[in-house]
Amino acid sequence: MAIKIDFSNFYQDSIGSIGISESTRKTSIADWRSIYRRINEQRERNQIAFMQLPYMLPHQIQDIKETVESTKERCDTLVVVGIGGSLLGAEMLYSVLKKSIYHKKNQHFSRVYFLGDTTDPTPILNLLAHIDLEHTAFNIVSKSGSTMETIAIFEIIRDRYKKAVGTSWPNYFIFTTETTNNYLFQTAVEHEIPVFGMREDLGGRFSVLSPVGLFPAAFAGIDIQELLDGAAKMDAHITEQGSSNDALEYAWLHYMAATEQYRLINVLFTYGYGLEKLGWWWRQLWAESLGKKHTLTGQEVRVGLTPVVSIGPADQHSQLQLYNEGPLDKTITFLGVTSYEHDLEVEHTEDQSLSFIGGKLLSEILAAEREATRMVLTETGQLNISIMIDVIDEVHIGGLIYFFELVTIYLAGFFNINPFDQPGVESSKQRIRQLLKEHD
Ligand code: PA5
Repeated sequence: MAIKIDFSNFYQDSIGSIGISESTRKTSIADWRSIYRRINEQRERNQIAFMQLPYMLPHQIQDIKETVESTKERCDTLVVVGIGGSLLGAEMLYSVLKKSIYHKKNQHFSRVYFLGDTTDPTPILNLLAHIDLEHTAFNIVSKSGSTMETIAIFEIIRDRYKKAVGTSWPNYFIFTTETTNNYLFQTAVEHEIPVFGMREDLGGRFSVLSPVGLFPAAFAGIDIQELLDGAAKMDAHITEQGSSNDALEYAWLHYMAATEQYRLINVLFTYGYGLEKLGWWWRQLWAESLGKKHTLTGQEVRVGLTPVVSIGPADQHSQLQLYNEGPLDKTITFLGVTSYEHDLEVEHTEDQSLSFIGGKLLSEILAAEREATRMVLTETGQLNISIMIDVIDEVHIGGLIYFFELVTIYLAGFFNINPFDQPGVESSKQRIRQLLKEHD
């Protein structure tokens, strides 16, 4: 696995006096050590569930693979229904890896659709009109087992099956939920529906490397062991680096940018086909984990960073004007890919003004666009980091997932907030229930 991170454009040596000084970095090392130690102690007490996922036991992986095989005996299509952390991770794995691996390995991909990010009836009607119910399985994912949007869609789909296949409707469902007294789990017990149990201590947005993301991924044809291996490799790399590791540096730089320079907007500028979907997953992780009203000791602080996903090079023709000439209130992370197994060459052009693209590979043009944008934004004073992955595959995506999860909890450490709760989301869920009850 090769993931290279370049922090230089955050520091004064490279970006000038607007950057962070080497002496500030040196004086903060004690804080890095203390956060590193605290997270490791929590990890040793098994209090950080996502850190255990890369080391999933063989029988758990086997269980996922066997459920895929038995589902495929009847169904060639899977629909995942969930919302937030119960959907974004699985959708990200499918979209990022399908787009890249499909061409590279000529692998066979089974169809997976994702529903639940809206209760707008249109996408649900479209999908139902399009799929063959008798060859489709539904994976209903909800940790709480009671999220209104997910349950509403489940009931609609279940009704369709009841009408189509009668009492054998449970054969078309697999649930992923907590094995507690919740509606989904109770329904599974009553109707003998297979269930992937979700750990109580594993929040939705940190659950992509659990069956929440792995079952749909394995169904699609993604190598889930390689995904976990990638995360484990990143874990080993970070452990080897110790208290001055890359994830801690990434977190600290963002903390400094926010608290010292009021740079509260973080842009992930993705240069790689499908990587924007990784951005959509990261966006939830960042916003829901780091936007908090209170510190761990109950003090009201209202901290938070606003994640923005940009797509290169398309957004060079859209967002870049703002990033280049607008306020210096952002940090930018460029996420790019080093090598492409298959490429295309612009052999020649008759446009004299563009003669320099003749003989260039498209991947070379993409790299130049990324580097030029990085140079321009550095000159203008936007603090930036570059993350380069060798290729888009399971190992590298597994590594990136683990890296961003780790950065998130380190950053929460600097802000002294809890990254694992979401009271602001829960209160809105209650308000929706109240409103709908009033309309009864
Ligand atoms: O990350 C989170 O915790 C949330 O986004 C949840 O995943 C989301 O609210 C869905 O909840 P549930 O999985 O209980 O249906």
